[in-house]
Amino acid sequence: MGAVLSKDEARPAVALPIYMDNQATTPLDPRVLEAMMPYLTTKYGNAASRNHSFGWEAEQAVDAAREQVAGLIGGTAKEIIFTSGATESDNLAIKGIAEMYRERGDHIVTQVTEHKAVLDACKRLEKQGWRVTYLPVQADGRIDPGELERALEAKTVLVTIMAANNEIGVLQPVREIGRMCRERGVLFHTDAVQAAGKMALNVSEDFVDAASISAHKIYGPKGVGALYVRRRNPRVQIAAQIDGGGHERGMRSGTLNVAGIVGMGKACALAQEELEREGRRLEGLRDRLKARLEAELDYVRVNGSMEHRLPGNLNMSFVYVEGESLLMGMNDVAVSSGSACTSATLEPSYVLKALGLGDDVAHSSIRFGLGRFNAEAEVDYVAAKVIEVVRHLRELSPLYEMVQEGVDLSKVEWQAK
Ligand SMILES: Cc1ncc(COP(=O)(O)O)c(C=O)c1O
Repeated sequence: MGAVLSKDEARPAVALPIYMDNQATTPLDPRVLEAMMPYLTTKYGNAASRNHSFGWEAEQAVDAAREQVAGLIGGTAKEIIFTSGATESDNLAIKGIAEMYRERGDHIVTQVTEHKAVLDACKRLEKQGWRVTYLPVQADGRIDPGELERALEAKTVLVTIMAANNEIGVLQPVREIGRMCRERGVLFHTDAVQAAGKMALNVSEDFVDAASISAHKIYGPKGVGALYVRRRNPRVQIAAQIDGGGHERGMRSGTLNVAGIVGMGKACALAQEELEREGRRLEGLRDRLKARLEAELDYVRVNGSMEHRLPGNLNMSFVYVEGESLLMGMNDVAVSSGSACTSATLEPSYVLKALGLGDDVAHSSIRFGLGRFNAEAEVDYVAAKVIEVVRHLRELSPLYEMVQEGVDLSKVEWQAK
């Protein structure tokens, strides 16, 4: 075991608080803000105004952004539909495909660790008579492609499986899934929110028919996203879920958020440019954090595959410590226990439970989300802080003490009052 860190010792000077929750959202990159500014000030035209230069200028900016977004995932500009974010993109893809292809069948396949935007869209469809198969995941968080193959039926219309998970960063075998779907004539949608801009993803090579992405996960603004919809081989059709002026080729009406879209385009272009270098940097920081925590603390475990994982994600359980208490003990560090989207409740994370974790271990888990603006000194600060707080909480934990004394907790008969 390493030396015990005193309060101020071994702490590099870093600006506090530290933001390390980049799977929840990311800060706006100043270069993105700069690109957006003209469209928040002087260039305020409506991209649908065809009669004057204000409208043309806005439309041109949107078209340029469409190219940039498409470029990041290997699609073409015409295949990009702008939305208000990935929750809408997921809903539009799943409900829009279900509605359009109802005559083909009544069956959808997804998996249990999807984001709620996917799971709840599927649940809504179940109420309308669709049958949905929720594939389990293995202990490493990945689906078994063999199980997917067995789940596909003649009446399967859509498979929707995420590229990367938001809590554990685990990557699903997207290409294998895509190929299987293409061979069977089943449409394949992927929630690529966490993957896009963080790892190689190509809608052609991966046989993706529809993909959801969100600007605020890649250093763009909140409230803007996109849905990629394949136009050739096969041409995918989507029934609009928001009707109105017929924007986005009738698939999503509503005046375009020009500044947001310009920001999303810039964010995609930057992510694409920096993808490989930044991926390696984040992996290095993430592995440094993991190594420090594992070297200094016992009874820790990493949740989800380390091999198939987003470079900036680390999800760890600190057994015999309550995650919320750990968070409270390090209030100058922004990380997350369970999913940020559901952390308003104290339910243990359904994603961690799907890996087979018990409630107690799931409750002791922390998600570290490293991003573009995190530096090595911050990693060292966070590692030292976690080590200090975990040790402190364990000193107070009777369970930890019992385990230290060699008691097997699973054999203890707890006396009920
Ligand atoms: C995997 C995944 N899908 C969908 C969403 C929803 O995206 P948005 O916040 O753009 O609605 C998120 C964001 O938390 C996510 O992580």
